[in-house]
Amino acid sequence: MTRILVTGSTDGLGRATAASLLDAGHDVVVHARSSTRARAVADLVDRGAALVVCDLADRDEVVATATSLDGGPAIDAVVHNAGVLSGPSVVPVNVVAPYLFTALLGTPTRHVYLSSGMHRGGHPDLDGIEWAGRTASRSYSDSKLLVTQLAAAVAEHWPDVCSNAVDPGWVATKMGGAGAPDDFDLGHETQEWLATAPDAGTSGGYWFHRQQQEPHPAVRDRRLQRGLVDALAAATGVRLPER
Ligand SMILES: NC(=O)c1ccc[n+]([C@@H]2O[C@H](COP(=O)([O-])OP(=O)(O)OC[C@H]3O[C@@H](n4cnc5c(N)ncnc54)[C@H](OP(=O)(O)O)[C@@H]3O)[C@@H](O)[C@H]2O)c1
Repeated sequence: MTRILVTGSTDGLGRATAASLLDAGHDVVVHARSSTRARAVADLVDRGAALVVCDLADRDEVVATATSLDGGPAIDAVVHNAGVLSGPSVVPVNVVAPYLFTALLGTPTRHVYLSSGMHRGGHPDLDGIEWAGRTASRSYSDSKLLVTQLAAAVAEHWPDVCSNAVDPGWVATKMGGAGAPDDFDLGHETQEWLATAPDAGTSGGYWFHRQQQEPHPAVRDRRLQRGLVDALAAATGVRLPER
């Protein structure tokens, strides 16, 4: 049995990921932005999931939550699923929060980061990024390119950790919209497999429906990876530790 944190598990792909992992008999930590939104996972908590409440747009809350989780039962895997499409919280929620959970949780040996096919339209430059989210300084595509680079950087930094990015496809959720064409179940299966399966011990991949794809060339650029990790460390005061 594996203990997995799924961020953004109140809706959409995150909720489906958490429910499937519970169905498979794993220990799951579900996550909601507020105690009000936690009502959306009350059924999963009734089924045995642990609950953590944290607004991912609030850096202090993210640091406190990650620190507290790190002091509790060991988490084996994290599915960095929570995401927003627009607004000032795009960078804090889609990039900074996954970085902080990665840097501050000492036990996970698997990290799965939700990317998007839209990362291919993103720009990797770091100039002028408002990491704290006071303004909307980057697009959704930019943020998904950065988090895909982060997944690759973590794979390089920690050779013993499996770190991968997943494009779930365009699926019908609050974010994807009702008319999204891709298969919803295939949209969360790869994350579950990468987080838990004994035969999924791979790292540094960019996945779509359990198939590796070639991401934007900036993802594999070691200099850009290091620049991103250094910028996140400077912005947050939290470095990716050596292991
Ligand atoms: N749907 C698609 O077609 C698609 C395609 C490519 C990639 N993705 C990626 O897949 C992931 C899941 O997307 P989805 O379609 O399932 O989206 P969704 O239905 O909008 O769900 C997003 C989840 O993130 C949570 N969240 C957002 N901001 C938060 C914050 N500040 N603090 C805490 N939680 C927060 C939401 O909480 P609330 O319920 O409280 O809002 C919700 O649980 C995202 O990273 C997205 O970028 C989705």
